[in-house]
Amino acid sequence: MVKNEESDSYCFEDWTVMTREFEFNPANVNTILSQTWRHLQAAIETETHAWRLGTLATASEGRPRVRTVVLREIQPERRELICYTDRRSDKVSELEQTPWMEWMAYDSLTRVQIRLRGEATVHTSDDVSADHWEKSSPEHRRGYITVAEPGTRSETPEPNLPDYLFDRLPNDEEAQLGYENFAVIVCRIDHLDWLQLRRNGHLAAQFLWTDKWEGHWKFA
Ligand SMILES: Cc1cc2nc3c(=O)[nH]c(=O)nc-3n(C[C@H](O)[C@H](O)[C@H](O)COP(=O)(O)O)c2cc1C
Repeated sequence: MVKNEESDSYCFEDWTVMTREFEFNPANVNTILSQTWRHLQAAIETETHAWRLGTLATASEGRPRVRTVVLREIQPERRELICYTDRRSDKVSELEQTPWMEWMAYDSLTRVQIRLRGEATVHTSDDVSADHWEKSSPEHRRGYITVAEPGTRSETPEPNLPDYLFDRLPNDEEAQLGYENFAVIVCRIDHLDWLQLRRNGHLAAQFLWTDKWEGHWKFA
């Protein structure tokens, strides 16, 4: 393991970990944006990448709500981050009422925090949700076949899974029951806040979308 003084992070000989370097050109703030999308894509492809998990914030009657979600897909040209959820979960009704969202992730290896702000659209039983369902694994699909609505009070600690699925995966017909509960949240972002912690002073940058991305460095 080699200490990289410039980025204040560690660089391993192994190429998979090398991709966790957050490299950018200090003379061009836009390289922060392109590297952010690159790392988000790496997070989707690498189970151990810290940005695979994001904190998704919504608003509920003027109060914040946050929860962990898995980043499933990005579409950089459309400025989209995508996660999956149960259509009956609180976040879905919150986003249907108030579509504003913020997504936060921190990678302790690169010491970079990102905050992405924008508007979310929820897809259920449409072409978008069908497309994503098609790509999902049987393990993932099982999570949407429940005995009760998520969040319902339970008198005992028990998984929200029918008995017949305790020790096996659903077949195609059973999985179809899950599809009815499956929702895709597409977050289209128009604001990106970037922060890298460094021993000799933190660095920060900010990007705003109007009809194109405008970025600038800022004091952390
Ligand atoms: C590591 C981890 C990953 C999670 N990923 C998801 C996810 O991708 N989608 C999701 O709906 N909930 C996910 N959850 C559960 C949520 O954090 C949350 O508890 C649940 O969705 C209910 O949230 P809500 O009541 O605000 O809708 C995850 C939880 C953990 C701990």
